[in-house]
Amino acid sequence: MAQSLYNVFFSPTGTTRAVVDKVADAIAADLDISNIIVNLTQPTKRPVAVGGEAGNVLVFGFPVYGGRVPAVLADSIKKFDGEGVYAIPVAVYGNRDYDDALVEAVDLLTAHGFKVVAAGAFIGEHSMAPRVGEGRPDAADLAAAEQFGHDVAAKLAQENYERPQVKGNRPYMDAMAPRDDRPKTTDACTVCGICVKRCPMGIIDAEDPAKIGEGCLQCNACVKSCPVDAKYFDDEMSLKIKAMLEGNFMARREPELFL
Ligand SMILES: Cc1cc2nc3c(=O)[nH]c(=O)nc-3n(C[C@H](O)[C@H](O)[C@H](O)COP(=O)(O)O)c2cc1C
Ligand code: SF4
Ligand code: SF4
Repeated sequence: MAQSLYNVFFSPTGTTRAVVDKVADAIAADLDISNIIVNLTQPTKRPVAVGGEAGNVLVFGFPVYGGRVPAVLADSIKKFDGEGVYAIPVAVYGNRDYDDALVEAVDLLTAHGFKVVAAGAFIGEHSMAPRVGEGRPDAADLAAAEQFGHDVAAKLAQENYERPQVKGNRPYMDAMAPRDDRPKTTDACTVCGICVKRCPMGIIDAEDPAKIGEGCLQCNACVKSCPVDAKYFDDEMSLKIKAMLEGNFMARREPELFL
């Protein structure tokens, strides 16, 4: 019988966390097991060993980046030890598509010994284009996430460990080409330090938050967390992507669940 659930996630702008918390809390409550939160968002917290004993449960939440699992998580996933651990990958995407991210997550977890028993794709406000999927996950999304958790718990309680058929293609679509576009900062910056703490790459200078080092993910955690709206992207590619998303992906998509 499972002893613990690990709620492991990477969530720069918080939408993934909102969804996986609902899923994980429902599973842990129904199975009456402890709920251990492992937040991989901050650079000092990555990588970390997760998994533990056989019979444990892992909920693994990640935002979809370019139709794939974010490359920044590769080192963390290498440290996952899933021998006999039941896993539920949860992809949160910005209302465009999750493409091959969920099958990739299933494959990565399986390669590390986990038994994938369920998977879900949910929608979060697009971090690069907030009008796309604006306000998601909303109350209906969170209710769907909670219900998904209850359904996963029921499946586990029935000792049904069948691997679900997840949507996506193998081979996966090509990974996004890395680009060195970094946010800019206006004079409104009060050097409050919020973005410095929120940056998942730890590349914003604490003394001068307008100075950004290499390795930006364009995750927009700094842009969305700045209380005075001092951070913004205005490079050509960021503006092009935003316009493309707003022009084509405004129609509401709904969560897809695989059990
Ligand atoms: C670099 C990057 C690439 C993204 N690629 C996709 C994508 O391929 N499809 C999609 O629908 N959303 C995409 N998104 C949007 C995020 O998946 C979405 O906003 C998610 O809710 C962010 O999760 P978070 O709040 O946990 O950071 C991308 C966002 C970023 C920053
Ligand atoms: S500097 Fe880049 S990586 Fe850091 S929070 Fe801002 S967008 Fe994300
Ligand atoms: S959150 Fe905004 S105001 Fe605070 S340090 Fe960062 S850019 Fe400056």
